[in-house]
Formats: sequence, C-alpha cells, structure tokens
Amino acid sequence: MDKFGFIVHPRSLEDIYAYNKLLRFLPPPIIKEVLKHVPAYKLSDISTVRSATGQEITGCIIGCNLLPQQILQLNPDFVLKKIINAAKIAERLGAKIVGLGAYTAIVPDKGYSVAKNLDIAVTTGSTYTAWLALEGISECIQERNLSWEQLNVAIIGATGSIGSLCTKWLCPRVSKIIMSARHIEKLERLKNLVREIHPRAVVIEQDAHKAIKEADIVITTTSAPEALLDINEFKPGAIVCDIAVPANVQVRFKERKDVKLFKGGLAKLPSEVNFGISLGLPKGLVYGCIAETMLLTFEGRFENYSLGDDIDPAKLEEIAAIGRRHGFGVGW
Ligand SMILES: NC(=O)c1ccc[n+]([C@@H]2O[C@H](COP(=O)([O-])OP(=O)(O)OC[C@H]3O[C@@H](n4cnc5c(N)ncnc54)[C@H](OP(=O)(O)O)[C@@H]3O)[C@@H](O)[C@H]2O)c1
Repeated sequence: MDKFGFIVHPRSLEDIYAYNKLLRFLPPPIIKEVLKHVPAYKLSDISTVRSATGQEITGCIIGCNLLPQQILQLNPDFVLKKIINAAKIAERLGAKIVGLGAYTAIVPDKGYSVAKNLDIAVTTGSTYTAWLALEGISECIQERNLSWEQLNVAIIGATGSIGSLCTKWLCPRVSKIIMSARHIEKLERLKNLVREIHPRAVVIEQDAHKAIKEADIVITTTSAPEALLDINEFKPGAIVCDIAVPANVQVRFKERKDVKLFKGGLAKLPSEVNFGISLGLPKGLVYGCIAETMLLTFEGRFENYSLGDDIDPAKLEEIAAIGRRHGFGVGW
C-alpha cells in the first residue's frame, strides 16, 4: 500500500498545553527554548484511507516542534534543518511523498529547499487548499443567487502561494479584485502579471482594513501568526473565507449574523480515517494540504506538486478533478 507523510507543528502554546497540562506552569520563554532542541519525531500512524475508487493508502504524521512565530523568526537555516529532519523521518518510514503542513510549507522558500534535500516528492498542498476555498465560496454565492462577475473580491495575502492562485483564478471572473499584502513590489509584480492576462480592474491596497471595506467577498490567507481583522470590520452581507492557520479573522464580543464567515481550504474525506492525533477539526474533515498529499498518493503522482509562489493555475482544475474522482469534497 502506498504511503505518504505529513509534517505538522504546534499552532500555539495551547497545543503544547493540550499535549501536557503541566506545561502551563512553565514560563513560555522556557517552553520555546526547549522546543528548539526537541528533535522531530513520528506523532502517529494514519489508518487506511479509502478512496471512492476503492483504492487504499496509508500515512504517518511527523511533528516538527516549533511554534509559528519561531518558524518565521528563527534563523531560516536552523528552521530548514528541522523541517528536513522531519521529512526524512517520513522518508525512512516508507512515505513516497511528504506534505508540508501550515508554516513548514512557508519557510524558507515554500518547499523548494526541503525537496532538494529529499529523495521523495514534496508538496505544500497549496493548490488543493486554494481550490477548496474557491469552491466553498462558489457554493455560498450560488446559495445567494449571486454570480462572480457582480462581485468585488479582496484577497488578503494575495501574493502568497495560496493567495496568488486565488488571484489568478478569480481575475477573469469577478468585477474587481483588491489585492493586499505588506510588500508593494510583490503586489506590483502580481498586478502586472494578472493585468496582462486579463485586463480587469485590479487594485492594490496594502492596508488590510481598508482593502476589505467595499469587498463582497474576502479571502484571508496570510501567514500572520495573529489575527489581523475583526468580524465587525466587514461590509454588510460579506462572505469571508479564512484559509489562514492560525486564523486571520477574530470574532470578539459581537457576532455578525449578516456576515458569512467560514474556515476555507478544508476537505471532506470519502471514508473514516483515524489520524492518531487531533487535527483540531470536526470528524471527517482535513486541511486541504493533507488532502492534496493523499490525492497525489492515490494517483501515484510522486512528484513535487505545489512548490513556491508561482504555481500554475491550471493545476487548480487538475487537482479538483482528482479530488472528485476519489470522492473528496469541500469540508464545512
Ligand atoms: N486551510 C488549509 O488547509 C491550509 C493549508 C495550507 C496553508 N494554510 C494557511 O494558509 C496561509 C497562507 O499560506 P501560504 O502558503 O499561501 O503562505 P505564503 O505563501 O507565505 O503567503 C502569505 C501571504 O500573506 C502576506 N502576509 C504575511 N504576513 C502578513 C501580515 N502580517 N499582514 C498582511 N499580509 C501578510 C504575504 O505577503 P507579505 O509578506 O508581502 O505581507 C503573502 O502574500 C497560512 O496561514 C497557512 O498556514 C492553510
């Protein structure tokens, strides 16, 4: 049976405390220092995953013990070494492809350096994650009898791996795209690229708070380790798809019943799977990045699939078709 590996890391100190309650009594700086020295290890074996075609695969989860802020702030060579060590464990355990979860997919160069140091394939899972988010929004739009071409869409984190795929796919379909991120040069480059392909209204707004003001649809997909936006900031009736892990949108004090906020980029599995650890998601759902790793394993596509920021948008339709063939759907 073909096997895949998947690398995870704690999303916050809460994940560490959930692992051992007593750790709450240690000062966070000490926990963070200790984490730097904990080697990667196998967290669990994943039970058989059965596709709608009847094919079966198996997998394992490897823990890379760094918090999001550490992955972003520590020396990139040190972080890369930790991620490679984690991936090599999956390789030794017989995985033919390894998926990079959450921030391990981002640092230092969205999978390229990890792939160079392994004899097995690597994917960040960005393509299927982007597709699941777009498909989820399409379902919400249909429910409201709206169509893409009427709508203004803001993409917060537009220049990233997932954000740029969403931008390229949406550009020919919507009324206006508001692209937001911190670095202007990357935004200008993407704007020129999408304008060349489709002469639609594309605007840049570096301030995320301003970018969402007039948006009917908002996709948040930044790698900010803390929430950037509050539910109360959105336009009345907005559809907000938060792909980011940890979340980019926080809901405090007051709910907004008119705003449809959902966690985007999740997949519904075709069969019951025991991951051996909690992924922090409702039963039957997985992150798009794990789902993409599974789908490539079902297909025997042991190739570096989603790496870097410039993924070919044609891959969106390809991975969507593969997902449908194996019975995967949008997870809610
Ligand atoms: N739901 C899922 O299944 C799933 C799967 C994979 C990944 N993810 C999550 O999706 C998110 C994006 O992943 P990715 O691989 O696309 O990341 P990425 O390639 O690093 O892109 C991040 C984007 O966010 C922008 N950004 C970063 N920090 C920001 C800040 N403080 N304020 C505003 N913009 C900021 C970046 O541009 P600038 O640096 O110029 O600001 C870039 O445009 C992450 O949270 C990741 O954990 C979710």
